[in-house]
Amino acid sequence: MTSATAVAGTNIALVKYWGKRDQTLNLPAAGSLSLTLDRLGTRTRVAFDGGDGSADRIALDGAPAGQKFVSRASAFLDRVRGRAAISACATVETFNSVPTAAGLASSASGFAALAVAAAQAAGLDLSPVELSELARLGSGSAARSIFGGFVEMAPGSRADGHDAVAHALDSGAGWEVRLVVAITAAGEKAIGSTAAMARTAATSPYYGAWVRSVEDDLSAARTAIAARDLNGLGTVAERSALRMHASAMAADPPILYWNPATLAAMATVRALRERGVSAFFTIDAGPHVKVLCAAAEADAVAAALNGTAGVLRTLIAAPGPGARVVEAA
Ligand code: DP6
Repeated sequence: MTSATAVAGTNIALVKYWGKRDQTLNLPAAGSLSLTLDRLGTRTRVAFDGGDGSADRIALDGAPAGQKFVSRASAFLDRVRGRAAISACATVETFNSVPTAAGLASSASGFAALAVAAAQAAGLDLSPVELSELARLGSGSAARSIFGGFVEMAPGSRADGHDAVAHALDSGAGWEVRLVVAITAAGEKAIGSTAAMARTAATSPYYGAWVRSVEDDLSAARTAIAARDLNGLGTVAERSALRMHASAMAADPPILYWNPATLAAMATVRALRERGVSAFFTIDAGPHVKVLCAAAEADAVAAALNGTAGVLRTLIAAPGPGARVVEAA
């Protein structure tokens, strides 16, 4: 029996991925750009040991995982089994560094860690780019967590998706930035990103304009990163998040992830900027607010967010490395 354990940090998109050109292969409609984090990650052990005899045995945070989670993970393991020409069911133990129920646990670190651990346990010798493609089949954003630092995901143009992979854009070395995460609600999000982006693409009159806007944001973000220009990068990140949410809000039925604390946290960030603090928000498919700032100002940003009505708590995350195997037997 071979087993492998991998860890992956989640990533936060500064230029968002929201919409697919192919649902089955998770091929994105446009590129995206993210920062991989050292916190909010996943640790996953996979062993192709026969599982429970007839099915994969999958545990999440120490307890048997729910049906939705199991079927998504098992479908992913089927792809790995197909590639490696093995048929054994697996035992999977996965732990998120924040409770999954906090609504922060991300499929990005989850599928990146699962891809790396499962490939290794199955004896597949995959390059980082091949691992990125494999992780993408689990979740589009997971393709980015294979790499550390600033990462860009290509939409690709091939029908087979071989060119829809991420690459490491810039390690961020010598640039002390942080993401302060303001948690504004407990519990799972109302509608998952897969369903929400499909509904946006099918019904939002703003979807086409959103997709067309991404390329300019990517180019502005690359320039800002190369120049270590926090204000430039933060401006793009806010714009991209607001445009993504605008396209979702215009869907039918509408998709609105924000709560009153989301808006209050956005106002706090703007007030910080008026006081000369370079802080910029981004928001994913949920009500939490993530704030990009300089490391030296992260404590002050966290304090301001902690003092914001409805913010439950904050976490400060730094740029982190890509997904990797930490144990193999
Ligand atoms: C708002 O990667 O979770 O976080 O590919 O359907 O699994 P699927 O979607 P997912 O979407 C992430 C959406 C986002 C923006 C981003 O991470 O780029």
